[in-house]
Amino acid sequence: MYFRIPQRNLLYSLLKLLNRPIPMKDKIDKILKDIESYKFDGKEAAEQFRLKYLSKKGQITDLFSQFRHVAPEERKTFGKLLNDLKNKAQSIFDEANKQASAQEEKGSTDIDLTRPSLSAPLGSRHPVSIVRNKMTDIFSRIGFTVEEGPEIENDWHNFTALNFPEEHPARDMQDTFFIEKDPDILLRTHTSSVQVRVMENSQPPIRSIFPGRVFRNEAISARSHCIFHQVEGLYIDKDVSFADLKQTLYYFAREFLGQDTRVRFRPSYFPFTEPSAEMDVSCQICHGKGCNVCKYTGWLEILGCGMVHPNVLDFCKINSKKYTGYAFGIGIERTAMMMYQVKDIRLYYENDIRFLKQFTSAI
Ligand code: PHE
Repeated sequence: MYFRIPQRNLLYSLLKLLNRPIPMKDKIDKILKDIESYKFDGKEAAEQFRLKYLSKKGQITDLFSQFRHVAPEERKTFGKLLNDLKNKAQSIFDEANKQASAQEEKGSTDIDLTRPSLSAPLGSRHPVSIVRNKMTDIFSRIGFTVEEGPEIENDWHNFTALNFPEEHPARDMQDTFFIEKDPDILLRTHTSSVQVRVMENSQPPIRSIFPGRVFRNEAISARSHCIFHQVEGLYIDKDVSFADLKQTLYYFAREFLGQDTRVRFRPSYFPFTEPSAEMDVSCQICHGKGCNVCKYTGWLEILGCGMVHPNVLDFCKINSKKYTGYAFGIGIERTAMMMYQVKDIRLYYENDIRFLKQFTSAI
């Protein structure tokens, strides 16, 4: 016991003499570096830290037990370094622990698994879709298939093959949007363009409807828009007559608006049908008495129709001597405005949820 102190002093003096780092100092520096860069991620890590450095068997506690080996003249310095190290480790631990507890507490209020979930608001179908679906449903029941065509068309399918000769004034009634670079390309003005595509690609019997979006160069107002929707119908076979057309449309009007609905046909003109007509239905609002929706006439126009012009059949490579057919085009927005008493067509395109959520449908 007596000799140990001079020996220890001797060792440190020797190390100093050899200019070697003192192990205690090295250890302190190393631990200091380690604790300063210790990665904490929660309570568990804080506890690991405590066990590693501050517990009874921890590295810092261990350094304290080695302190007695330090040379007396170094004790003051090392004592201070050690105490600083311990305080530093303690405060790092305290801080990490505090943060972990705060995090835990926050986490537990953030996630309350017993809370009822927020209800997900259900959307509703757009009135234009509701009406289109109702129309396709009615025609499907009497054997019409559903086909679609492109919204970006060429002159042939939208006009020429439908018997609108170039420069014909009938084209003025359906002005549209053209592509400057290629005036042959345009936005279709009606779904009648799909008639041409279907006839070009198949032979009679043809019995189909074509719902879709159409475009016209119109000033936007309460009653007209540059975008709207139509449902086109086409029936081509042997011996199809105007009587078939009328019966089909009677059936449609009654299924669509109710059995007491009355219809009337007025002569009209379309280059692609001959004879042509427009069909009115008795006003659903006043039932024929006269109101501001039907402009006090008791009638509302919902579609154009007629017997397919033989020129159109020939253009589409269907033998006009053998086959006849009828076609009709129903305006969806117009019909929907009448059904729902919507006074301004622009409401359909504004995506105002207060307007849209009023419509419910089974289909
Ligand atoms: N395509 C015509 C329009 O847009 C409607 C129509 C279709 C008329 C079919 C007759 C036959 O106004």
